[in-house]
Amino acid sequence: MSSASPIGVDIGGTGIKVALVDLVKGALAGDRIRVATPSPATPAAIAALVASTVASVGGTGTVGLTMPSVVVDGVVTTAANIDPSWIGTDATELFEKATGRRVGVVNDADAAGMAEMRYGAGAGHDGVVILITLGTGIGSAVFHRGVLVPNTELGHLQMHHGDAEHWAAESVREREDLSWSQWAHRVSSYLEHLERLLYPDLFLIGGGVSRKADKFVPLLTCKTPVKAAELHNDAGIVGAAMVAPPEAT
Ligand code: BGC
Repeated sequence: MSSASPIGVDIGGTGIKVALVDLVKGALAGDRIRVATPSPATPAAIAALVASTVASVGGTGTVGLTMPSVVVDGVVTTAANIDPSWIGTDATELFEKATGRRVGVVNDADAAGMAEMRYGAGAGHDGVVILITLGTGIGSAVFHRGVLVPNTELGHLQMHHGDAEHWAAESVREREDLSWSQWAHRVSSYLEHLERLLYPDLFLIGGGVSRKADKFVPLLTCKTPVKAAELHNDAGIVGAAMVAPPEAT
């Protein structure tokens, strides 16, 4: 791999994952480094960890990063599952100063969706495709003819008097010790709600739990076809690298 491979950084509520990415193959081009997300996960604490992990991954490439929040022109504007001090932070400026490299920043579900649409389960699907990530929260990425509508926040749809993510995320399955069938019932209600609003042609299910898709995808009752994401935990890192600025020539 040339030293100019982009670096993907996937920032989540529990861990920060970093790797060099091969954008021809849509795969990691080196070892994945994972560090625990600091607590409190303030901009300064995260930036310091990103700087050290990017330095240890090496190379000279530019960097793409995901945030579990709405990101508009590099500025973080929501903080559902991260420290509220992120709101209003210019993440591009923060990470460029911290790493000394040019960076791009994108919502985590949008990154996973871009990676799945180009290299994974969404490749070749032209209609309305909705990727849902089931993790600490629920993230969404909506595509039509392969084009992303950025920053959709469909995990915050109101269901049962609260955010859907507080009722159907993977973290809720773990916290409430739900069986796969109890949880699949909740995920089905959520996907059926999306069906009634957006009439997708395909759902993709991402997040770490997509590795256990055989336990719950066959139990889903929505009408729209559902496919498990194929890049699993690497989708965020690969999608992050897709927004790394191009190398200056
Ligand atoms: C955030 C989204 C994010 C999702 C998954 C939600 O709470 O609002 O921006 O994509 O969690 O991390």
